Formats: sequence, structure tokens, C-alpha cells
Amino acid sequence: MRLLLCLCIVLLVFWSAVQGDGHHGRQPHPRPPGQDHSKGHGQGHGHGHGRGHSHGRGHEKHHDKDSLKIHRENMDFAFRLYKHISAQNNSQSKNVFFSPLSVSVALAALSVGARGPTHQQLFEGLGFNETDITEEEVNEAFQHIFQDLNKKTDVDLSLGSALFVDDNFKPRAEFLESMKRYFQAEGFSTDFVKAEEAKQQINKYVEEKTKGKIPKLVDELDPQTIMFLVSYIYFKGKWEVPFEPDQTKAGTFHIDDKTNVTVQMMTEKDNFLVYHDEEISTHVLQLHYNESVSMLLVLPEKGMKGLEEVICREHVAKWLRWMKKRECKVFLPKFSISASLQLTDILTEMGFTDMFSNSADFSGITEDHKVKVSKFVHQATLDVDEAGATATGATGVGITLYSLRPYTTLKFDRPFMVIICDQKTKSILFLGKIVDPTEK
Ligand SMILES: *[C@@H]1O[C@H](CO)[C@@H](O)[C@H](O)[C@H]1NC(C)=O
Ligand SMILES: *[C@@H]1O[C@H](CO)[C@@H](O)[C@H](O)[C@H]1NC(C)=O
Ligand SMILES: *[C@@H]1O[C@H](CO)[C@@H](O)[C@H](O)[C@H]1NC(C)=O
Ligand SMILES: *[C@@H]1O[C@H](CO)[C@@H](O)[C@H](O)[C@H]1NC(C)=O
Repeated sequence: MRLLLCLCIVLLVFWSAVQGDGHHGRQPHPRPPGQDHSKGHGQGHGHGHGRGHSHGRGHEKHHDKDSLKIHRENMDFAFRLYKHISAQNNSQSKNVFFSPLSVSVALAALSVGARGPTHQQLFEGLGFNETDITEEEVNEAFQHIFQDLNKKTDVDLSLGSALFVDDNFKPRAEFLESMKRYFQAEGFSTDFVKAEEAKQQINKYVEEKTKGKIPKLVDELDPQTIMFLVSYIYFKGKWEVPFEPDQTKAGTFHIDDKTNVTVQMMTEKDNFLVYHDEEISTHVLQLHYNESVSMLLVLPEKGMKGLEEVICREHVAKWLRWMKKRECKVFLPKFSISASLQLTDILTEMGFTDMFSNSADFSGITEDHKVKVSKFVHQATLDVDEAGATATGATGVGITLYSLRPYTTLKFDRPFMVIICDQKTKSILFLGKIVDPTEK
């Protein structure tokens, strides 16, 4: 059987923008969201948010529609972010892997607490236009994405967030309520003056939520931190059509003209969903997981750079629409990568400038203090492999009426792009490129 496991995390640190003021107010603060609950989701939301919509529609339909409301903006944002990350120095020779959805969630959560130009930058930077959609509608769409993704039972998928709030800092109650309602935020009170303990508390939480994959998200924590927002996504799925472990053999992967590396190459001949996009000379293979989640493996014929320049939401929509089952021999390396991104510069470059500056307006979070975002970090890991002994022969019997027809070979032996998406909510959960499968 083959297994794919990936997960990621985004985090932000708020500092008091008032330098040298180590104190952040003295009032006892209200309980951060979800503090009484040990579970990260499923509690207390999804009800009572009906303000402003009609209740006549069927519940499921209503959900589908709401979680789809922002899929275009989210997908466009995903590719914009990808292009900025990929345009960074050296990225042509580096793996890229991140969760656009998780980054969108973190920015949307911030926008709830932002006002004025800071808010406008966040809202527009995510691709929303106030004349077309209200903030309330955006938040509700995210709420439905959380609900839809977290309710899948046949894949292990969880999307969540948490707020670590300093003992002496009192965010506005409305902010905490919105964080809980829309982003399923769990709340914790933290003593950031004891930086080492606070760091451990956050790292432990993240380690638990990512099932050990990201044990040390935070390296160092400034004692001036007053609030820390974490957004995570964890995904583990089994392929619908498994690879045979004993077919896996050493093979060559061509990183570029100058470099070849040896990888463990998995092989399977079966009916696969494939598409050849002639317009951009690219092969696409779709590997399904249970439920509506699948992975698109995108193999450009003329080099990664050309693909990166043009790829956009419309391509993905076209591929998903025209995918056809064909007998195919697929070669795919086993790999395990981990990517860590400092997003501060990239987001600044993308126009999110206010939130990092001293003109940041987060008066939706607190009116008593000037606060800004001081750090924006993202980590993601992706493992693609087979779990040796558990392979069953039950799947993968490729019976085809056209057995005489020559089969296509799709050999992922040169840089390719990876997109993990959920077709129900049309969300890109993860996006990246594998340039060197042997790079950790
Ligand atoms: C990218 O490279 C240029 C020139 O080599 C350098 O000045 C710049 O600091 C680099 N940027 C990053 C983000 O490393
Ligand atoms: C928002 O949409 C309206 C009409 O759809 C358009 O005129 C306006 O320029 C848009 N605003 C931004 C910031 O894109
Ligand atoms: C996934 O789908 C397969 C076949 O479609 C089914 O046998 C299995 O029980 C499902 N669930 C999980 C968790 O694999
Ligand atoms: C990499 O492998 C290809 C084909 O196996 C070969 O033609 C090429 O010369 C190799 N490149 C290097 C730098 O070894």
C-alpha cells in the first residue's frame, strides 16, 4: 500500500509595538476561546451563526455552497504565493512545499482583528473585493471549509488553529469569539515572560497536532510576545490504487543538466487518471485518496520554470474536468521532505506591509495597546512512500478492454509539481514542487 502523509503549520507572533513596554495591561482577561475544551474542533460552532442568511435551504447544500464561495480567491492566492516563494533566490534548485490554505486561514484570522488600511491590505491581499463579498461572508466560508474538511472520516485530515494569549493581555471578547467560531481556535493562556516555558507549550501543542512531525516549530520566543497564533493542517491518506512495494527499485532522478541523484522509484501499471495539457506541454496524474481528496502530480515536458510562470487556477480546473482513465505505467520516487519558510519578506513583497509595521492597526484585537505581527513562519512536511508489509493485492488489478493499446509511461524522474486538493471545497491543501527528492 502506499501512504502519503503531510502536514504543516503557520504561525505568527505578535509583539507589542511599543518598544520597551514589557507590560501589556493588568486586567484579568476573558478566557481565550475553547480553553475549556480538550478537543480542537467540533465544539460549539456551526450553530447560531445564521445571522443574515436565509434558513430555508437544505443544510448540506447550504454548506457546500458556502465553502465554495471563496474557492477562486483562495486558489488564486495559492498560486500567487507559490510564484513569490518560487521567485526567491535559489528556489530553482530547491524543493518548495507549503499549505496555501493554512496561510490563507492565518491571514483571514488576522483580518478579523485588523481595521483601517491594515484590514484592507489583508482582505484585498487575499483576493477579496468588498463590493463583491463582505467580511462576514468570507469568515463564514472559512468556517464551512473547516467544518467540511474536519468531518471527513476516511482520510485523516484536520485543520485547526490556536491562540496562545499572554496572562496579562486582554484581547477583545469579540475577537476571541470570532476566532473560535470561524477558525475553530483553541485558546490557551501563556506566560510569555517565561519565554522558555511558553516556547515549550507551543511546541508541544504543535507536535501533538502534527502527530510528531513538527516537534520544534519555535526556536526562540521573545519575552515581549503577547499573543501567538498557530494555524495547522494535518493530512494522511491512503492511495486508492496502491503501489506494489516489491516493484520499488533504485532509479535515477534528473535534477538538472548537471545533477543526477539516485532515488527509490516506485512503479505501478494500472488505470490512472491522466491528462496531457498540450497548451502548456505538461502531463498531469491524479492520484485519489478516499473521499474527495486527491493529489495532482504535474510533470512539465519543457522544464519547471515555464510551468511555474503560467500555472493558475484555470489549469487546475481544466485538468480536473478532463482527466481520463488510461492504462499507464507510473514511476514515482519515494520521498520525505520538510520545508520551512520565513514568510515575512514574501508577504511584505505581496503587499501585506501594514501588519508588520508600526502603523499596524489591530484595534479589533485590542484597543489598549499598539500591536503588530513580528513573525510569520510556515513549516510543512511531505512523505510519499509505501507501508511495506501491509500491501494487499485487493486493488490495482488493471483490467482494460484495450490491452493491446500501448500504455502511456509517466516517469516522474525530473522536477515535478505537487498539488493536494479537496474537490468538495475546491481547496488547495498543499502545493509545492519536488526538485530533489533526496533533499530532506
Ligand atoms: C537574493 O540575491 C540578491 C543578489 O544575490 C541579494 O542581494 C538578496 O539579498 C537575496 N535575497 C534573499 C532573500 O536572499
Ligand atoms: C472591486 O470590484 C469592482 C466591480 O466588480 C471594481 O470596480 C473594483 O475596481 C474592484 N476593486 C478592487 C480593489 O479590485
Ligand atoms: C477507503 O476506500 C477503500 C476502498 O474504496 C475502503 O476499502 C476503505 O475502507 C476506505 N477507508 C479507509 C480509511 O481507507
Ligand atoms: C544523468 O543521467 C542521464 C541519463 O541517465 C545521462 O544522460 C546524463 O549524462 C546524466 N548526467 C550526469 C550529470 O551525470
